[in-house]
Amino acid sequence: MTRMPFLAGNWKMFKTGSEAAEYVEKFKSLIADVKDRQTALAVPATALYQAVAAARGSDLIIGAQNLHWEKEGAFTGEISAPMISAAGASMVIIGHSERRQYFGDDDSAVAKKMAAALLEGLLAVVCVGESLKDRESGQTIDVLAKQLRGALTGFNPAWTQKLVLAYEPVWAIGTGKTATADEAQQSHAFIRSEVASLLGGQAADSLRILYGGSVKPDNAASLMAQPDIDGLLVGGASLQIESFVKIVRY
Ligand code: 13P
Repeated sequence: MTRMPFLAGNWKMFKTGSEAAEYVEKFKSLIADVKDRQTALAVPATALYQAVAAARGSDLIIGAQNLHWEKEGAFTGEISAPMISAAGASMVIIGHSERRQYFGDDDSAVAKKMAAALLEGLLAVVCVGESLKDRESGQTIDVLAKQLRGALTGFNPAWTQKLVLAYEPVWAIGTGKTATADEAQQSHAFIRSEVASLLGGQAADSLRILYGGSVKPDNAASLMAQPDIDGLLVGGASLQIESFVKIVRY
């Protein structure tokens, strides 16, 4: 099974709508010849419309960074899956460690958000990853297994094509400390084996698993050379066009 490489930027809380439009216009022309891999940008909710408008005419996927599982309701400050797709976006990140750490997104919230996104037809990028404490106490595998079980409970096999997983070790995010390609590969292989036991071998074989955590132009190629790393979820290095283009062209 060949899995199309997926290179996604997560801008976090950076860039206004007009900054997003300017970036996307330039970025899409710089990668117009790239046809053998998919590219995506998860932008702040306030920049969705402008990013989508700027991406028109290209294959660049625009997505949100979070959503609420209800379609609408009295949930001040939240946005829903139908709102994201009405803005023209087609992807959403779910369960990012910053959401888990600062906003209380637990495994059950992640499962509900994932179902809401997939029912809407959005591409759901579901993040898992251990903390430094988990890793140092030898809990990496247990934490990943628990997060995967939590997220994939109630998963409908028909959704497989729209699911992407991202392995983001918390200790490697924004710290400049990347997991070595070997460390990342070990976790990715474990995640794929867990997906096989939860969703079946075929799903595990076709599912893309991205690595995230201090990805830079100079480590992208060695990460992408690993058999179970199918893409990259890039934070800081996606904010500058030049470095993200280099990563896309790893
Ligand atoms: P950095 O690439 O800045 O470490 O962030 C990774 C990340 O959290 C992507 O979602």
